[in-house]
Amino acid sequence: MPRLDTTHTPIPPRRVVSGMRPTGALHLGHFHGVLTNWLQLQATHECLFFVADWHAMTDQDQPLRDEAISEMVLDWLAAGIDPARATLFIQSRMPEHAELFTLLALHTPLAWLERVPGFREQEHPSFGRLGYPLLQAADILVYKGEAVPVGQDQAAHLELAREVARRMNQRLGRDLFPEPQLLLSQTPKLGGLDGRKMSKSLGNTIAMREAPDATRAKILAMPTDPARVRRDDVGDPACCPVWALHEVSTGDAQRSELAAGCRSAAIGCVDCKQVLLDGLLPQQSAWRERAAAFEPKQVHWMVEVGTERARALARKTLREVREGLGLHA
Ligand code: TRP
Ligand code: SF4
Repeated sequence: MPRLDTTHTPIPPRRVVSGMRPTGALHLGHFHGVLTNWLQLQATHECLFFVADWHAMTDQDQPLRDEAISEMVLDWLAAGIDPARATLFIQSRMPEHAELFTLLALHTPLAWLERVPGFREQEHPSFGRLGYPLLQAADILVYKGEAVPVGQDQAAHLELAREVARRMNQRLGRDLFPEPQLLLSQTPKLGGLDGRKMSKSLGNTIAMREAPDATRAKILAMPTDPARVRRDDVGDPACCPVWALHEVSTGDAQRSELAAGCRSAAIGCVDCKQVLLDGLLPQQSAWRERAAAFEPKQVHWMVEVGTERARALARKTLREVREGLGLHA
């Protein structure tokens, strides 16, 4: 089942870079939208995955919590992201991103940033908010990243990163930076408990490592097809928020049985939800077990090692850029 659109990619990209803002414990939307892609990529590509904590700070007033970072990294590990295959690190530990950001800023027309969608809607945008997509470009280019697995919402940022790479290559007089390609996730946004997109701000999420009782209670309380008022009313999975979860958690054969049962009222919604729980609860308990096996110290060291690996790559790029720009000191 191909999940990544690589059809527009003539040469398979090698180095993959992606970042995630630390929002604390991840939910099923993150798992099915992002982490499944990361898992697939770490098997075949050189991957750098990082915590975009500077980016998280551009739209939040409170200080970042350490746990927001460690819980998120733990969820990456719980999902099966393997620090032996992928380099994991924290953006704010890498001053090289900031240095490249500064050098890119000197060569990036203001108008390029002002026209990035989303910027104009900001009420009192900070200087950092204007630079958000340029910092993202620095995150990628500092590793000469060739492919960036992100959702459609990041397409404009990637386009800017490509433009900036081209402009810098012109200035440097050589193709130092590859133009990073967008690896679009094929999974549409997962629906949440209320049928709207699963998102922390809407309070409609199921966490990857949610406790079984909480998961059960949330699923059993979910609204279903409004046409199924009584047990013997027929339903339509297409009108039911529960179905979105079946689509990512339940196997094809069982799903077509359930769909038929729903349409003929052969099964009730509680039966249908139970099948979902039978698939979901063991998956969540596997994630919880894997996460519990890591000592906090161990996670800390994994990130420490990742940071050193990333730093070696970033420093090399910066040496080349400095030299190309005539900064020899
Ligand atoms: N802006 C991205 C998001 O909100 C996070 C991000 C920051 C990122 N830097 C990146 C993603 C570099 C990919 C590559 O999801
Ligand atoms: Fe939704 Fe399942 Fe009920 Fe059909 S049977 S309405 S798919 S919960």
